Amino acid sequence: MKKYDFDEIINRNGTGALKTDALEERFGSADLIPLWVADMDFRCCDPVVEALKKRCDEGIFGYSVTPECYLQSILNWLQTRHRWAVEKDWVSYIPGVVKGIAFAVMHFTRPSDKIIIQPPVYHPFRIVPTLHNRQLVLNPLIERNGHYTMDLEGLRRVIDSDCRLLILANPHNPIGITWDKKTLQELAKICAENNILVISDEIHSDLAIFGHEHIPFATVSKEAAQNSITLMAPSKTFNIAGIVSSYAIIPNQAIRESFYNFLKASELNEGTIFAYTATTAAYNAGGEWLRQMLEYVEGNIRFVDEYLKKNIPQIKAVLPQASFLLWLDCRELKLSQKNLVMLFKDRAGLALNDGEMFGTDGIGFMRMNVGSPRSILKKALNQLCAQIQK
Ligand SMILES: Cc1ncc(COP(=O)(O)O)c(C=O)c1O
Repeated sequence: MKKYDFDEIINRNGTGALKTDALEERFGSADLIPLWVADMDFRCCDPVVEALKKRCDEGIFGYSVTPECYLQSILNWLQTRHRWAVEKDWVSYIPGVVKGIAFAVMHFTRPSDKIIIQPPVYHPFRIVPTLHNRQLVLNPLIERNGHYTMDLEGLRRVIDSDCRLLILANPHNPIGITWDKKTLQELAKICAENNILVISDEIHSDLAIFGHEHIPFATVSKEAAQNSITLMAPSKTFNIAGIVSSYAIIPNQAIRESFYNFLKASELNEGTIFAYTATTAAYNAGGEWLRQMLEYVEGNIRFVDEYLKKNIPQIKAVLPQASFLLWLDCRELKLSQKNLVMLFKDRAGLALNDGEMFGTDGIGFMRMNVGSPRSILKKALNQLCAQIQK
């Protein structure tokens, strides 16, 4: 069995990677260690690279059909990895999870309808409805000593008859929570009772770590299955976000027909040959790479956590149950958000996500992407430590 080398340092500068090549534009300096946008600095698994090379060698890139083996690879993956028996008709290609959210907003709501999100949460959940002139309703997570729960009582309080959609991050980004079955069941019940469709963004679903389990929202109850659209992708899992391959799963026939007809009307359900090829190869043959990668990421999280405890105890890592994003609680530094961002960026030379971009509940926090070789994380932490000790 091949042992993948996640310590390998790959220079992404000048390759057009958002993570490196947008540093100047987004952070005002190109000379920062990039630990922000959620893709990893690890080389993709061999089966995907080989399948794409084989495709290229054909030298013909004409229109394609949706291959049967592509759909079958998704069904097998969901069954074996998430014990979810999905029917082929329920699945449709979509050109991105955020775009899928936007399409659901456009199709199922009208301007001035209300959409519920639970911050601190992935910023497009706020940006997409806002730019489509929908009203946001916030139901913040409850935080106690770095432990987060969903505020189901709060949800009942904020709902009114204008609420149409709830966008769920399952697992949660930026905090990395794998929501438990009871929470999801209660959420499904509240949303069904109030006629609120749940858009469950499960892009981080394959990345459960430290023995935690991802539970697909649609599997927790009949109400959940019949009142949800699940959005998934191999993009975070296999580090292929640039290939743009995502899909929706809708068990409810009426919702499915309505949404998929909307997609078809603009041919938004048609994938590219590279998307079909990469997804099929990843799901059919990428499992071992994923196992090794998650083991490495767990090691990285432990490394950062131990480093902080030993050297920078004012910053605490909120240990994620899924994915490669680490929510850093910096409140004990007692800095304004502006000064906190300055500490990381201008003084320590690091590009992390400012916690406030995920909502005001993210003030006092930073999000660190640990999907990088450990030596880079070590260098970044040393730079941070040196500044804090100054
Ligand atoms: C929760 C969540 N949803 C969606 C995305 C982006 O998905 P896509 O690139 O398919 O739009 C991300 C990327 O970071 C994410 O964290």
